[in-house]
Amino acid sequence: MIKNDLFLKALKGETVQRPPVWMMRQAGRYLPEFMALKDKYDFFTRCRTPELAAEITVQPIRIVKPDAAILFSDILVIPQAMNIEVEMKPGLGPWLPNPIRIAKDVDQVIVPDINEELGYVMDAIKLTKEMLNNEVPLIGFAGSPWTILCYAVEGKGSKSFDTAKGFCFSQPEAAHALLQKITDTTILYLKEKVKNGVNAVQIFDSWGGMLSPVDYQEFSWKYIYQIVEALAGETEVIVFGKGCWFALNDMAKSKASALGIDWTCSPKNARYLTGGNITLQGNFDPSRLLSPIPTIKKMVHEMIDAFGKDKYVVNLGHGILPNIPVDHAKAFIEAVKEYEHK
Ligand code: CP3
Repeated sequence: MIKNDLFLKALKGETVQRPPVWMMRQAGRYLPEFMALKDKYDFFTRCRTPELAAEITVQPIRIVKPDAAILFSDILVIPQAMNIEVEMKPGLGPWLPNPIRIAKDVDQVIVPDINEELGYVMDAIKLTKEMLNNEVPLIGFAGSPWTILCYAVEGKGSKSFDTAKGFCFSQPEAAHALLQKITDTTILYLKEKVKNGVNAVQIFDSWGGMLSPVDYQEFSWKYIYQIVEALAGETEVIVFGKGCWFALNDMAKSKASALGIDWTCSPKNARYLTGGNITLQGNFDPSRLLSPIPTIKKMVHEMIDAFGKDKYVVNLGHGILPNIPVDHAKAFIEAVKEYEHK
């Protein structure tokens, strides 16, 4: 049994003393303890070495003390396992030397044996669970098939991902074949993560908001839906679609336990669009953590009031930024813990 079960209770819609809190991308970036390891080991070494991945996962639990841990890894370990080369260039981000551009490229993509290609993730989960000692739940994650396609086709980060969109619109058959392979791999991967001990999973659709509402249905939601259907009986599933407020109504009708909200959608509008029954997670503007600490605390309390304390998980509206002072990240978490004494 997990000692602090606030997060799992909120995902199940149960009444809580105060809402739970964690931060997207809380493992790494802004923590000096992380930067020390980052200086010594390159990115995929950190991902592939269970001792390092586990240590980085528990760092924020010790330092900023959120109510859930998220496994240190990356959404791009999936394309890597599928025979798509992925590098992480320091200062630049993801770099794929041989991006997918035509149907023949999609034929080279495989649905791998998970334990053969991604066994290191499962080892990291087992070690992390030991280190967490049942103090807080552990979240596993994957990118949405659409967001993975964005990198696989574009070959790098982008402001608009128009090469990826162009591929989908000019070669829809190849795009759908690729999306289905990513979906099949992701389902196997997340099921294996659950088997190895994660208590919930989050699907990051970081680039869903690049698509129009109609295209979102065809190229993103169709595949996220399959993942949610496959996993919902086995664990709690959170779907976070950045910029995807237009899809919240459909998402709320799925078997997802919770939906992530970014800061461009007000709590009131998010509750309205989702029908008021499903647990919501979000949506503090990550840049707002640069405000003075008293302002952060006041705004967090206002955010909880606006979402309501139940069926709610406090989080940022996207990942924490590298330039956030650790004290400010701590204040964000503390503000939530102080809420019950208000
Ligand atoms: O909470 C956590 O920090 C857990 C680990 C985690 C990482 N990436 C580690 C990472 C998680 C949950 C991710 C998800 C991820 N990765 C997403 C979805 C979430 C989001 O932010 O939208 C995306 C789009 C990626 C792809 C990716 N990985 C990019 C664009 C970059 C470079 C820019 C950046 O974020 O720094 C990465 C590298 C990466 N993944 C780093 C970390 C800590 C930084 C590089 C490094 O540590 O060397």
